[in-house]
Amino acid sequence: MAYEFTKEDLKEIEKLKARYPEVKPVTLPALWIAQNRFGHVKPEVQKLVADTLGLPEAHVHGVATFYTQYYKEEKGKHVLDVCTCLSCQLCGGYDILEYLEEKLGIKTGQTTEDGMFTLNQVECLGACGYAPMLQVTNDNYVNNLTPEKVDKLIDSLKNGEKPEYEKIRMPQHKNT
Ligand code: FES
Repeated sequence: MAYEFTKEDLKEIEKLKARYPEVKPVTLPALWIAQNRFGHVKPEVQKLVADTLGLPEAHVHGVATFYTQYYKEEKGKHVLDVCTCLSCQLCGGYDILEYLEEKLGIKTGQTTEDGMFTLNQVECLGACGYAPMLQVTNDNYVNNLTPEKVDKLIDSLKNGEKPEYEKIRMPQHKNT
């Protein structure tokens, strides 16, 4: 498959380039644009980003491989990142991961045969107060997970519905 940006993508990239005195900082958002377009940033896509920005492939590869949020291989339509770091682990993060493995019939790191779900185990996502939690495709968090909540989430995603994601309330700092 030959990967090409659309005219809209290129326009967006040009706009980003105009914001910075040099092109390197555009690597991150350009990789996002690419991932949103193709669903991943495999080496061929990294090359496209490098060529489009006029940067060495090694630079784009270095950025893409540094962040787990960039998918270096094809993933399912929905990527479920289950946190198993300390707080989530203590609150049953591994039980949730095992529950999902059983429910989806895959092991962690795998994608379901129908291409709907990829299951990952990840490090702390900064929502420890809501443990155990998971993130859906680099976007919404699902907190205080229980098997029932997992069932509801999977059903919604399978049915093409938008799950009811809860809003996270960050602690307010009072002036002293
Ligand atoms: S330990 Fe899971 S979000 Fe921090």
